[in-house]
Amino acid sequence: MTYRVLVTEPIVESALKKLRRHCEVDIGERGQYDQPAKLARDIPGYDALLSMLSNPVDRSVIAAGKDLKIIANYAVGYDNIDTQAAREADIKVSNTPGVLTEASADIAFSLLLAAGRHICEAQAYVREGNFDGWDPLGFLGLELNGKTLGILGMGRIGQAVARRAGGFGMKVLYHNRRRVGSATETALNASYAESIEQLAREADVLSLNCPLTKETHHIVDAEILNMMKPHALLINTARGPVVDEAALADALHEGRLGGAGLDVFEEEPQLHPRLLTAPNCVVLPHIGSGTHETREAMGELAVSSIVGVLKGKKSGEISNLVVT
Ligand code: 8YV
Repeated sequence: MTYRVLVTEPIVESALKKLRRHCEVDIGERGQYDQPAKLARDIPGYDALLSMLSNPVDRSVIAAGKDLKIIANYAVGYDNIDTQAAREADIKVSNTPGVLTEASADIAFSLLLAAGRHICEAQAYVREGNFDGWDPLGFLGLELNGKTLGILGMGRIGQAVARRAGGFGMKVLYHNRRRVGSATETALNASYAESIEQLAREADVLSLNCPLTKETHHIVDAEILNMMKPHALLINTARGPVVDEAALADALHEGRLGGAGLDVFEEEPQLHPRLLTAPNCVVLPHIGSGTHETREAMGELAVSSIVGVLKGKKSGEISNLVVT
């Protein structure tokens, strides 16, 4: 029997090649399935869906996917998928954990360094022909050595960010639903903050590395932003809705925060208009996992979960299922 797989957007060729060895593969165009109605219209007849984090796979899509056996999300975060509806419909869901940890932590640190040292503004200054010699007062930034990096969400990516902080001489303070083991705390030289409020008050840089859930939606709101030090930086490589973007734009415009580095936004691909004009706000188009190596490894993981499920492997034999 030939299985049919819908890959909503073109992904790395190595993954598609492997998938074509086992299944008939159709590939959508970029952005084609960013509306659930379009996905619900086209999903009937497919046995598997390889979705992007930008595709809302809601209850209507799942109800329409009568032949679906697995949804493989090409991301570690899977807040775009209604996992409850998938569970009820007996459809498995997989994600791509582990393989994008280092790439995502690299982007968090790139944003931290860029915002801390005004890299983007300084480059624009040079390119616009304004560089008129060394300036003893030009582009003064935040020294990282000895500062406190606050990490909200101490999973794989949070820990990889913490490891990088050690190399820059930073202290690490973190908050997580569950405290990590003492061996991990010692290895990362990290202390536990009892609350997000403590984290906000003490951090010189606050890095968000938690998943988006009902509990973390707008967890960084006007109140938390007000508690942060006026020179502090906010780095978001988690999900946009973890931050109240309008409140962040206010804090930056009113000079109540030193800067922000954002790879994710509340309404991607839209940006809050006042973030675009905010001082010292570095913005990237959600490229955290965007290295050749990582995107290939993500493809490998997604495809092996699809092939595994379609070939009847037991859930326990597939390492990356989040709905079994
Ligand atoms: C991001 C992601 O690129 O896989 C995901 O869920 O969104 C990551 O790959 C990163 O977290 C944002 O910087």
